[in-house]
Amino acid sequence: MTDHIIRVTDPTKPLAFDLSRPLEVEVGCGKGKFLTSRAKENPDCDFLGIERMLERVRLFDGKCRRGNIDNARVLRLEALYTFHYLLPAHHARRVYVFFPDPWPKKKHHSHRLFSPLFLDALWKRLEIGGRIEFATDHEEYFGVVKECFAADSRFREVEPMPRPPEVWTEFETLFRSQGMAVHSAAWQALEADDAPLEPLKIPPEALPREGIERRPKKNED
Ligand SMILES: C[S@@+](CC[C@H](N)C(=O)[O-])C[C@H]1O[C@@H](n2cnc3c(N)ncnc32)[C@H](O)[C@@H]1O
Repeated sequence: MTDHIIRVTDPTKPLAFDLSRPLEVEVGCGKGKFLTSRAKENPDCDFLGIERMLERVRLFDGKCRRGNIDNARVLRLEALYTFHYLLPAHHARRVYVFFPDPWPKKKHHSHRLFSPLFLDALWKRLEIGGRIEFATDHEEYFGVVKECFAADSRFREVEPMPRPPEVWTEFETLFRSQGMAVHSAAWQALEADDAPLEPLKIPPEALPREGIERRPKKNED
């Protein structure tokens, strides 16, 4: 059986998608517990996980293979870059970002995923009316992300989707088992002027590439 890992040989070329099928994307999908369960429940939709840790990408692939899930794939690449250059315009019906690294130290805030730059690329990839679902255990980062969306008139805050325990991600399961609070929010993409994205300052050769083309070892998941 072919595996579910997308191998990017040229990170400047947009990825190919079947535009006749809806698409849902999870950023930092980890081992894929959430996305693979959604893929199983929704065979008429395609699912893309974006995850930069190789071992987690392999575990995602193993879950798809064991569960005979044909409509989910995973890409080992940096999320901002992927949204900016590789996804089709206004095609994703949902984007999920669950428990992104909060980078709590001030000197590391520039590593955080959510920024006006990410919102530009996110809006461009969501269909109009498409939604982003977000959850975090980190209260301060939750406030920062809410402010970021509130400052962007292309998004409207909406009720987050219900997430019963069966679809909790690995981190959500862990945090809730420790009695930690989880903060959730969701936004919808609105009709707006569709300006082209400015080029990013990250050159393709600076992307983490190690292992992108490496195949998982036999029996490895
Ligand atoms: C705290 S973990 C949460 C994993 C999963 N969402 C969950 O809730 O179980 C954050 C994940 O996002 C991945 N990640 C962080 N920044 C990323 C980025 N810029 N691009 C792609 N993946 C990223 C990390 O490798 C890690 O697996």
